[in-house]
Amino acid sequence: MKKLQELIDNNARWAESVRAKDPGFFAKLASQQTPEYLWIGCSDARVPANEIVGLLPGELFVHRNVANVVLHTDLNCLSVIQYAVDVLKVKSILVTGHYGCGGVRTAMGTRQFGLIDGWLRSIRDLYHVHHGELSKLETEDARVDRMCELNVLQQVNSVAQTTIVQNAWHRGQELMIQGCIYGLSDGHWKTLGESIAGLQQIPEVNRYQPL
Ligand code: CO
Repeated sequence: MKKLQELIDNNARWAESVRAKDPGFFAKLASQQTPEYLWIGCSDARVPANEIVGLLPGELFVHRNVANVVLHTDLNCLSVIQYAVDVLKVKSILVTGHYGCGGVRTAMGTRQFGLIDGWLRSIRDLYHVHHGELSKLETEDARVDRMCELNVLQQVNSVAQTTIVQNAWHRGQELMIQGCIYGLSDGHWKTLGESIAGLQQIPEVNRYQPL
């Protein structure tokens, strides 16, 4: 493991290189942040949000948890979404999964890992829903990768069904939820083609009236 001092030295070099390009960069950022995007992604160390999409500090508001899950009882994730939508007024929420996600793989298996099994439970339920489709795929890796996509689509819908997002649409606020996925093996990030930008795209049964 690298010693803390090495990381401190890395940081000093990084801060200096940023300052060299734009002397006012940190002073400007210290006074405000105006990100247009909220990133909801996996905690996996191989999926660093800003780097993947080439955005600077200040340009991406970020929430990460294991397997990029959005649960309606998760005060942490919901608080991030609420602040991003109501206060920062982000224009886009990027729900980003990644192929080969260990959390998704765990949720599909029988081995216990402890507390994390409870966190991943909703993915396990989703796996059971799609079991028929997934069983037609030949390899476990293919099944995991497809499940990673299905998980993203599920979480896009979860975000769109929050009262936070629906109230923003009721107010006429511009806000799009997009499903994306990242490939660990090739570094490519792409959209899954799933995007929700208004109440008309939500099934009526899942819509809330305005406050
Ligand atoms: Co993951």
